[in-house]
Amino acid sequence: MTFVILGATGDLAARKLYPALSMLDSKVIGISRRDYSNAQFRAFVKKNSDVKPEFLNKLTYFKADLRDKGFLKCLPIIKDPIFYLAVSYEFIPAIIEELKRYTNAKIVLEKPFGYDLKSSESLDKSIQKVFPEKGIYRIDHYLGKETVQNLLGLRFSNPVFEAVWNNKFISHIHIISEEQLGVENRLEYYDKAGAIKDMVQSHLLQVASLVLMDSPKTLDPKDVHDMKVKVLRSLKPVAAITGQYKGYKEQLRKAGIRSTQTETYAEVKLKCTAPRWKGTPIIVKTGKKLRKKQAYIEIEFKKSICKLYCNPFIRPNRLIFHIQPSQDVNFQMNTLNGKKVEPIEMQFCHSCAFGSNSVEAYYKLLSDVIKGDMTLFPRSDEIRYAWRIADSIKRKKPIVYLADGPKSIIH
Ligand code: BG6
Repeated sequence: MTFVILGATGDLAARKLYPALSMLDSKVIGISRRDYSNAQFRAFVKKNSDVKPEFLNKLTYFKADLRDKGFLKCLPIIKDPIFYLAVSYEFIPAIIEELKRYTNAKIVLEKPFGYDLKSSESLDKSIQKVFPEKGIYRIDHYLGKETVQNLLGLRFSNPVFEAVWNNKFISHIHIISEEQLGVENRLEYYDKAGAIKDMVQSHLLQVASLVLMDSPKTLDPKDVHDMKVKVLRSLKPVAAITGQYKGYKEQLRKAGIRSTQTETYAEVKLKCTAPRWKGTPIIVKTGKKLRKKQAYIEIEFKKSICKLYCNPFIRPNRLIFHIQPSQDVNFQMNTLNGKKVEPIEMQFCHSCAFGSNSVEAYYKLLSDVIKGDMTLFPRSDEIRYAWRIADSIKRKKPIVYLADGPKSIIH
């Protein structure tokens, strides 16, 4: 199996792809504009990626400028290649043109898939002219994270959850991904995108679709994707606040970019018009430069009616699926302590039960590409509906914030 990586000397390839491909023992042909020999490319990977020493011998390099017509003409014919397009979406249509002679290949695309609904549709058209949908793998690395993969398992193998998974019992749902780091060296890309396009349109709406979807008939990719689409079609943004971290403008200034209103934080309240979720707000929230790095899903249940046990300490039940750094599941409930009801927390410690060697998302997703399993790769209609949601989020001027983020106006 040979992976051809376009954008071979980029940040994503170095940090995520080579470590995963090293674990998969794959052959790699790296393509980029840098004037590298094979030896120099291997030295680059050795320096910048966490890979096994023997993996370096599996790397070869091919210099090409993606902007030149016919740039792949000299690439040797490879049997059943997997082309990984770790490049900005503007280059994709031209690359696809070049790949016409490889119609049996698999194509792996990185988000963002376009920058709005219109550009995403036109990107799709240009790809689907050459490759069938079954050969197109759109990577959303959140879908490779263990908790996210486990969402359907937890929901549909435990009747105790499924019975209360609706607006009658659930008061609201939070889907959160917070980061400590700022935009770092990705300003050029990020400033054109912002948190809504970078995180909400992709990762957070994908997670939301798995939390909210009805049970698929089977775990066949088509059935799962159909159910996700059904949810994404019925989600509508109803309110949003955005923020920009203190220091972002200074970062832009230093990079010679004029000050912009790009949001580095977004909190969006959504409603789902499906009968199961009518009246239950779904809140997705993400931001950079916050106090700590964490991602989780919080399901808050409705408060019990004050009948037998009434005191101000009783809290609503809350179920929390941690996505990172841990994959634990916590359940908050109330119990008697003496004569007083108090809230307590039950915790399922994932690493205590299953060990701490959690599988890296990219390793999981790339092994699925090799196997041809499309379950964890969003279908084109999922992406389109997610863009429709992201495009219709009404934003105000971003609020400048510190590590606690802007004050939530939503809940
Ligand atoms: C990427 C975004 O898709 O996800 C980044 O482009 C973000 O801006 C990253 O930092 C977050 O991923 P994770 O796995 O670290 O939560």
